[in-house]
This record gives sequence, structure tokens and C-alpha cells, in this order.
Amino acid sequence: MWLWDKIASSMNWKLIPEPELSPTLEADIQKMLIASFPEYVDFFTANSYWGTKPEFRLIAVDNAQPIAHVEFGYRHITIEDVSFEIAGMGAVAIHPDHQGKKLGKAMFAYLREYLLKNSNADFGFLGCHEKVARFYAASGFQQVHQSVYNLNPDSQTWETYHGPTMVMPIHKSMQAWKADGLIHLHGMPW
Ligand SMILES: CC(C)(COP(=O)(O)OP(=O)(O)OC[C@H]1O[C@@H](n2cnc3c(N)ncnc32)[C@H](O)[C@@H]1OP(=O)(O)O)[C@@H](O)C(=O)NCCC(=O)NCCS
Repeated sequence: MWLWDKIASSMNWKLIPEPELSPTLEADIQKMLIASFPEYVDFFTANSYWGTKPEFRLIAVDNAQPIAHVEFGYRHITIEDVSFEIAGMGAVAIHPDHQGKKLGKAMFAYLREYLLKNSNADFGFLGCHEKVARFYAASGFQQVHQSVYNLNPDSQTWETYHGPTMVMPIHKSMQAWKADGLIHLHGMPW
């Protein structure tokens, strides 16, 4: 068993459907996101996610506080004439006190297992900063070199995003991904 699989199985994970997220837990998640994203203090003081409203939160809990967080939801997207069901993911963070210990990698190992058993998602999907693309590549994602057409949550206008885009095979392999053409999200990103 890999180290991160051991971590994944030893952690106290909670998978919470959004309607069951209590105001207290949402506030605790915001506190964690503020600690993990010091450059976005104002944003995470007012919000617990960016873009599409999550359908689920996955957190790891330690001493009654979230120390790892990712939110996600399902959607059909298209690349030209090909359609895929994706689990779009966002607000990925590990509390600074717990970074660098493979907890991020363990979180995606746990999430992939969950999606295999509980969803029809073909792929996991997210956009990220260049500086963390290597983390996602180490955590089961593959970078795809295609632009993404989506509704910008801030400006509420449709635009083409050219930043790093990461795809994780769930029920389909990367060979099934359509690796050319614009990725149409049919909504906001996560
Ligand atoms: C990025 C983040 C989620 C990584 O979580 P983590 O638990 O510290 O990472 P892990 O210990 O599981 O690292 C797994 C692998 O990714 C690599 N990695 C971790 N953080 C990295 C980073 N910032 N840049 C590049 N590689 C990174 C590790 O070297 C490790 O590689 P290996 O398995 O080949 O040895 C975490 O540092 C974090 O929350 N950062 C602040 C918020 C953020 O940037 N979120 C992502 C927004 S897109």
C-alpha cells in the first residue's frame, strides 16, 4: 500500500452534501481556506468556494477542525461533438500545519475511490495555477493542453481560459479524453 493510501485510510474523512453543510462547519472551512490562501483573505472571509456552487465537500478532520478540503459537483461538458461527465473540483487546500506530508495526495486518492464507487464521472477536472500543476500531476491528474470556455464567476461574461487544466481519469482512461478542441464547460468553473 502506498504511503498516501495509508494516510487516506487512517484519516477521519467526511463527505458532506452541500445542503447538509452546517453554518458552523462552513465557517470552519472558511477559516482553513484563509490560512491556506493568505493572498485571498478578503475573498474567503466572505465565501467558502469560488465559481460553481458545490454539490459536495470532502474534508479531513483533526481535533474537530477541517485540515483538508476540496469541493466538487457533476456536469456534462463538451469538446466539440464529444460529451463527458466530469466531477469539477475546486477550493483545494491543506492547512499550512499539515502541508508537505502527502495529505493532499491522500485526499485525491480518497476522492477518486469515492467517485469510482459512487458516481458515473468519466473524469475529475480542475483549473489551477502553474505553480501547483506538479502537485496535481503527482496526485493522479494529467495536464491537458486545451483552452476552456466558461462563464467567468467574477465578470459573469463568457470567456476563454488558457491556464493549466488538469484531468483525472475516473471511469474512463486518458486515451478516451478528446485531446484537441476547446473544452466547453457550459457554466462556471469550480
Ligand atoms: C497545494 C497543496 C494542496 C498540496 O498539498 P500537500 O498536502 O502539501 O501536498 P502533498 O504533500 O500531498 O504533495 C504531493 C506531491 O505534490 C508535490 N507538491 C506539493 N505541493 C506542491 C507545490 N506547491 N508545487 C509543486 N509540487 C507540489 C509534492 O512534492 C509531492 O510530490 P511527490 O509525491 O512526487 O513527492 C497545499 O500545499 C496547499 O493547500 N497549498 C495552498 C493552497 C493552494 O495552492 N491550493 C491549490 C489551488 S489550485
